[in-house]
Amino acid sequence: KQRILTGITTTGTPHLGNYVGAIRPAIEASHDSNNLSFYFLADFHALIKCHDPALVHQSTREIAATWLALGLNTDNVVFYRQSDVPEIPELCWMLNCMAAKGLMNRAHAYKASVAANEEAGEDPDFGVTMGLYSYPVLMAADILMFNANKVPVGKDQIQHVEMARDIAARFNHHYGTHFVLPEASVDDDVAVLQGLDGRKMSKSYGNTIPLFLDEKPLKKHINKVKTNLLEPGDPKDTADSTVFQLWQAFATPEQTQYMREQFAAGIAWGEAKKQLHELINGQLCEAREKYTELLANPAHIENELQKGAEKARSYSVPFLKELRSAVGIKPIV
Ligand code: TYM
Repeated sequence: KQRILTGITTTGTPHLGNYVGAIRPAIEASHDSNNLSFYFLADFHALIKCHDPALVHQSTREIAATWLALGLNTDNVVFYRQSDVPEIPELCWMLNCMAAKGLMNRAHAYKASVAANEEAGEDPDFGVTMGLYSYPVLMAADILMFNANKVPVGKDQIQHVEMARDIAARFNHHYGTHFVLPEASVDDDVAVLQGLDGRKMSKSYGNTIPLFLDEKPLKKHINKVKTNLLEPGDPKDTADSTVFQLWQAFATPEQTQYMREQFAAGIAWGEAKKQLHELINGQLCEAREKYTELLANPAHIENELQKGAEKARSYSVPFLKELRSAVGIKPIV
């Protein structure tokens, strides 16, 4: 069986980018009985970016409700919260002692903070915590703990999966083969969904369209998507259009072809957005209702997570025992 694993950091409300780039393909993959899927809420990762306890807690609840509302069948997958599996931070330490500092120096997430500081004329390390610096090691522990071979992610996360692979190879070389070398899998059609301003849709840019907005606020958000100044009747280019990209992420190939023709024929931006709203709303409205119901029943969500933690630990507890022994941490006699 293929082992598939992916996670979402529990900061903020899930958005269309998370859905298209991570959640939707993950749920599809979980229907294939050749796969064993591990999907989790990365709440330890949340502490890197967010020091507001109420926000981390709220976001964990929302992201859990999102997966469940979208029809994740928790009998077929291992669905859990990272912090419910204490073997992960323990493995993280072992990996910290194998990961080269030089490798971490190249990590995008950390480098982006340093670059922003330099641009602002600050000390390069201003606000850079050890958590941010070694974030790829925690992510490696997430992946290697369950010997996942396939990690579906958006483009921004490819480097981290490659680092996990690197660290795993180093560990295997030194202690004998314990880890499968993981590979990132990226759907090229929807690799990076654009946000309202045309940049990558991201919580940190404040340009997201939250996944379960009600019909009216969803319309408002879609109306805010940046377009150029072309008038109705002017032929429009699909290549650099966020409206078209969002359409494509939700449409069938036939619907995409239809919109391509509409663009060539000079559809007005207002009309294109109206149709985009209908398309997205139509696909999400049922799940949105379930989502609202689930949020009103947090005990059910918690219960699902507890069930998932038990399943996850049926893998992680024996595997960590093996790893401890491999590095020389075992009873004296
Ligand atoms: P996070 O929470 O930033 O994003 C979760 C997933 O959503 C994808 N994504 C997007 N895809 C397409 N278009 C976008 N605009 C967009 N924005 C986000 C991300 O690529 C990601 O797949 N460190 C990870 C979470 C994590 C993880 C892991 C993932 C922790 N441990 C182990 C895989 C395996 C993160 O912060 O993702």
